[in-house]
Amino acid sequence: MRNKRRSDSMVSSRGGGGSSSLCKPSFSTILRFFIVLILFIFIFNFYSRGILEDEQNLNVSQQLPQPHDKLWEAPFSDGLHSCLNPTSKYQALQGGDHYITVRSNGGLNQMRTGIADMVAVSRMMNATLVIPELDKRSFWQDKSIFSDIFDEDHFINSLKRDVRIIKKLPQELDSVPRARKHFTSWGGLGYYEEMTKLWADYQVIHVPKSDSRLANNDLPLDIQRLRCRALYHALRFSPSIETLGKKLVERLRSRGGRYISLHLRYEKDMLAFSGCTYGLSDSESEELRLLRENTNHWKVKKINSTEQRIAGLCPLTPKEVGIFLQALGYPPSTIVYVAAGEIYAHLSDLTSRFPNVLFKELIATEEELKAYSNHASQTAALDYIISLESDVFIPTHSGNMARAVEGHRRLLGHRKTITPDRKGLVEIFDKLESGQLNEGASLQHLVKHLHQKRQGAPRKREGAPDGIRGRARYKAEESFYQNPYPECICRSKHRT
Ligand SMILES: *[C@@H]1O[C@H](CO)[C@@H](O)[C@H](O)[C@H]1NC(C)=O
Ligand SMILES: *[C@@H]1O[C@H](CO)[C@@H](O)[C@H](O)[C@H]1NC(C)=O
Ligand SMILES: *[C@@H]1O[C@H](CO)[C@@H](O)[C@H](O)[C@H]1NC(C)=O
Repeated sequence: MRNKRRSDSMVSSRGGGGSSSLCKPSFSTILRFFIVLILFIFIFNFYSRGILEDEQNLNVSQQLPQPHDKLWEAPFSDGLHSCLNPTSKYQALQGGDHYITVRSNGGLNQMRTGIADMVAVSRMMNATLVIPELDKRSFWQDKSIFSDIFDEDHFINSLKRDVRIIKKLPQELDSVPRARKHFTSWGGLGYYEEMTKLWADYQVIHVPKSDSRLANNDLPLDIQRLRCRALYHALRFSPSIETLGKKLVERLRSRGGRYISLHLRYEKDMLAFSGCTYGLSDSESEELRLLRENTNHWKVKKINSTEQRIAGLCPLTPKEVGIFLQALGYPPSTIVYVAAGEIYAHLSDLTSRFPNVLFKELIATEEELKAYSNHASQTAALDYIISLESDVFIPTHSGNMARAVEGHRRLLGHRKTITPDRKGLVEIFDKLESGQLNEGASLQHLVKHLHQKRQGAPRKREGAPDGIRGRARYKAEESFYQNPYPECICRSKHRT
């Protein structure tokens, strides 16, 4: 509205100038009158066209702020910025002839954060890191190697001052015995200093699992910043993924200017793993139960879906997402990009409210996506880029992807991330279901109120909730990569 106000005041000051000679209309008064009239017509035309274009959902949002700006604006970030450079105490790398080889486990973001941790571990243990092997056995069965997903040379070069990284273990070391070491989860500096004792007997340590090997908190500032440099700068996606990702972002923007990226984690593996069957048919529930029972590495087999849902542990269903977005105030014309693999079912419950729900397959050509089929991690990388660049990111479940994108958005200037309060929402949805509540103003009020403080505004990383003791604390803390503030986000004058 800023532009409009400015033009309005321009018009009225000119009009005011003409009023002094109003009683005796001279040629110049009439001329001024016409100038004002023409200006009015021009401005009216301009804005009515703007409004019309808004309604037709064209690409004008950048020039004409809409009354719905609050829906899209990033939270106030108060002069905070990222600060990833090392402190003045940071020593240049000496480079060692001890080596760490790693097998990363999990999906794309579990591997990314695990690799960033391994960079920091290598630094703490004064070791050379061999480019990690990626998980080929997880649910996603992706055969991609490191350089298929990441820009390998960039990774090596951009961490040159921090850790020596090499593509392959030197051939003469292939045959030496390696220590196979499952590092404890959530280890600290003391633990890894202790682990350097292994170098007395071994030249190579193999780490079969990379996720959550490093504590979230209480590590030296320079180690925390190194984790940030590794994840946010060094682990860039391969040029072909970056290029296509950016192209897809542009295509989404050309449709409506702004878009929501919805991490709709309503996928088969998640539903089976979490035991969430709310809203599904009996046969669908049965299919998921069998998948859970037949997947060896999912340890919990008997799950009460009702209890899971009440505890806020289930991903929102497509129908619930639709109600949620509407209650937040997003108009039906909103562009909603679904950052996910295959949605299990019931997507029409969302598209009936938001017809502009878009998938990769709708914004990329078959040719463009061909290289990515059967490569779940590479497709996930595209989703990551699109979610990072979105105006609003909404994860429907708190997984590795949701956490990684949220943290990265915080680092890039606290871009808006709306985290559904699933426990609170389930209560509201159940009231809707039972008729105690209707969709409308009171629902909007409840939902907006519940999410006022869940929009990604700056705050320091949370510790473990009170009452959790011992090692369980480490796991209960907010993840470092979900919120790298304060270590990698600063208020100082000097941007680093
Ligand atoms: C790191 O290792 C190298 C040799 O592997 C050694 O020369 C150097 O002193 C070590 N640095 C530290 C800080 O332990
Ligand atoms: C939409 O807006 C963006 C940014 O202003 C611009 O780069 C793009 O070319 C526009 N697309 C269309 C179709 O006008
Ligand atoms: C699941 O939990 C709910 C709520 O605690 C309970 O009412 C229901 O009987 C349980 N269902 C089964 C199959 O145990």
